[in-house]
Amino acid sequence: MNQHSLTTATEAQAIEEFRSDVLQGLSQRCKQLSSKYFYDEEGSRLFDQICELDEYYVTRTEMQIMERHVEEMADAIGANSMIIEPGAGSSLKTRLLLEHAAPGTSYVPIDISREHLFRCAERIALEFPQINVTPLHADFCQSIDLPPEADNGQRRVVYFPGSTIGNFEVPLAQRILEQIAHLVQPDGGLLIGFDLRKDVNVLERAYDDRRGVTAAFNMNLLHRINNELGGTFDIENFRHRAIFNDRASRIEMHLISEREQTARVGDHQFHFEKGESICTEYSHKYSIEDFSDLLEGVGFQEQQIWIDPRKYFAIGYYNL
Ligand code: TRP
Repeated sequence: MNQHSLTTATEAQAIEEFRSDVLQGLSQRCKQLSSKYFYDEEGSRLFDQICELDEYYVTRTEMQIMERHVEEMADAIGANSMIIEPGAGSSLKTRLLLEHAAPGTSYVPIDISREHLFRCAERIALEFPQINVTPLHADFCQSIDLPPEADNGQRRVVYFPGSTIGNFEVPLAQRILEQIAHLVQPDGGLLIGFDLRKDVNVLERAYDDRRGVTAAFNMNLLHRINNELGGTFDIENFRHRAIFNDRASRIEMHLISEREQTARVGDHQFHFEKGESICTEYSHKYSIEDFSDLLEGVGFQEQQIWIDPRKYFAIGYYNL
């Protein structure tokens, strides 16, 4: 790993941003909290557990597709490329890709959760001594610019697995994809996973598991507000809910207030009706056609699509 890991935001800035996003989100008519705050230490740990749940087919299915086709994917990416991964975690999928990467590959994981990022980057650097690993602590929703010291003139390919793009509303997804196109100019590529439309029961179970891990993951947002921003949420009086919104083609995750109540965050008071929701996450489900249209709109041409036999999940490779 490089001597100096790259940092773009200080911890103090980060907490102020958290505070202002929370206050703003809870002041809306339809209360909301940004899902990027799921991923503190505890949230990242819970998320890793979600990925292993029986009901959560996403990670397992994407992994199966990777296992079956990783060589074709590595071929598409080619030698001497810089693989850039926004929202990188401790991913087995990334390891699989790096194992098959052609000579001269370097790797730039980007994540908002600093400790998690550095720990994972270090582990990857140890496992893959031939690959230059440079972690970048940044929020890929804001902008993705590589600092000059990370620019070594290689062809850039963004690896964006996990259907993370599905967690953004379409206009924002479009903007992120535009930024990715800009980042990989002039001749780069994008290897991206996206979740497909399927039976509603399969979908809703995947985001509301029997053991309550996804519920704990969602509730962790309220714990964070209490712990880091001096919030007074009575956690017992909220519950997790996941529903599929067919018209918008997305799973929606909510925290539902089980009774009328008030919570404070610093000097601010927020009132909740019984049954009122805080919307915390979307997970959009696409058709292959809709997804490729979205990408064409920002200048990417579809090269290859891989899917599993049940047609649950897809991984696409696109070039500028
Ligand atoms: N992007 C994945 C998905 O939408 C993983 C994910 C993001 C997720 N946020 C989540 C999974 C919240 C469960 C709950 O499925």
